[in-house]
Order: sequence, then structure tokens, then C-alpha cells
Amino acid sequence: MKKIVISLGGSVLVPSLESNRIKDYRDALSGLSEKYQVFIVIGGGGEARRYIDVARSLGIDEAASDELGIMITRINASLLLWALGDFAYPAVARDYTDALKYAESKKIVVMGGVTPGQTTDAVSAVLAERVKADLLINATSIDGIYSEDPKKNSSAEKFETMTPEDLISIVSEGKMGAGSNNVIDLVAAKIIQRSMIPLIVLDGTDTKNLTEALVKGKFCGSVVSSSKKCPLPL
Ligand code: UTP
Repeated sequence: MKKIVISLGGSVLVPSLESNRIKDYRDALSGLSEKYQVFIVIGGGGEARRYIDVARSLGIDEAASDELGIMITRINASLLLWALGDFAYPAVARDYTDALKYAESKKIVVMGGVTPGQTTDAVSAVLAERVKADLLINATSIDGIYSEDPKKNSSAEKFETMTPEDLISIVSEGKMGAGSNNVIDLVAAKIIQRSMIPLIVLDGTDTKNLTEALVKGKFCGSVVSSSKKCPLPL
């Protein structure tokens, strides 16, 4: 079975608790798990940001604020995990060794954050490297990688394909906007470069984008790869 690691933003899965996309992802992932070994890393979204803002306003240090963020990623991950029922290994992986062990069950492996000082982008890239994934997918709220934040500048240029080196240069120059507006973090970009695992960035707000990309190779997004060959369909 081909192995895929999906990084799913908390703001995509749980834009708010009341209007979440858990059912959509349950259906999409359970279908994909028949064909692929699926690993999914869930972010913290707006809820994590709210906790971190309050922690900072109380003078709590950054590392402890990160720990709060990690807890929220794991709560979001648990919500998806339990909704997936038998399709998923019944525990959220807390580190990469857990994830490797849980994958022996052939079930979907669900993970959240791991350690302070990074985001779940970095977790998904390291995980992809550890499990020797065939593909890393970043399911986000925009349909690819742009020269600037397209929500702020409508004339931002979209990149259909780019090399990992291009990605590093865009991320490190901060062209995509500061902090959490970056489509991917720098640590993740560097791991993508060294592991040579192709990355697809696509709009995860409609799960059809994810399933059609993998199964039919039909997608609207950006490909980051050192090879000229499109990694999809897988
Ligand atoms: P996210 O990965 O969700 O951040 O982690 P994000 O990219 O800003 O959010 P979305 O989900 O894509 O919208 C949330 C926060 O949790 C902490 C960081 O503080 C991060 O900003 N975190 C997460 C860690 O410290 N380590 C981790 O491994 C993961």
C-alpha cells in the first residue's frame, strides 16, 4: 500500500466547534484507507490561537503556550479519531515511534502536535520522513502556494509547481506573510527538501479536492517536487 501523510489545519477541520468538517473527513478518509496507508496530522486552528493569546496576556512563557497549542491539536485529533471508529488505530500518536507502531494495524493513524517550538506542518513533514511516505499533502484553506497571501492581495501569483528550494526561499523571505499565514513553516520546508518526498498543497475545505487528487490525479493546487513528474494520481 502506498503511504500518504496528510497535514490538516485545525481551522479547516474545526473552523468552529459547531460548524466542523469532521463527518466529511470521516467519510473521505475511511474511503481512502481502503487503498492507502493514511497518516493524518491535525492542527489546532483558532481554538489553539485563542488559548495561546490568553496565555501570553498572562505572561506565560512561549514554551508553555506551545504546550497549550499541542493539547488543542490533540483534542481536535481525538474528535476525528473517535469519529473514525474502527477505521482508525484507537489512540492519538504522541510521537513518531507511536505512529510507526500504530501503522502496523494498517488502520488510519491520527496525530496532533509533538513538541514546543514548531507547528503541525513540521510534525507532518518529519512523520512523512519517518514512515517513508510516498506523498505529503497539506490540506489548507487556500488552493495552493501563492507569492503572497491571496486573501490579502488578489493579484498574488499562484505557483502550479515548484522545487523544494523555491519553497524554502519563499518561506524564509516571508513572502507569504508573517507567522501562521505562511502556508507551511520553514522547518517543514527544509525537511521536505532533504527527504525528497513530494508535497501537494490543496484546498481542504472540500474533501472532494483531496479524494479526486489522490484517486484521479485531478486537483487544483500546487506541487512541490524535485522531479518533473507529477506524483498524482497515486
Ligand atoms: P498548528 O500546527 O495548528 O498551528 O499548531 P497553525 O499552523 O498556526 O494552525 P492551523 O491549524 O493550520 O490553522 C497550533 C499551535 O500549537 C503549538 C504551536 O504553538 C502552534 O502555533 N504546537 C503545535 C507546537 O508547539 N508544537 C507542535 O508540534 C505542534
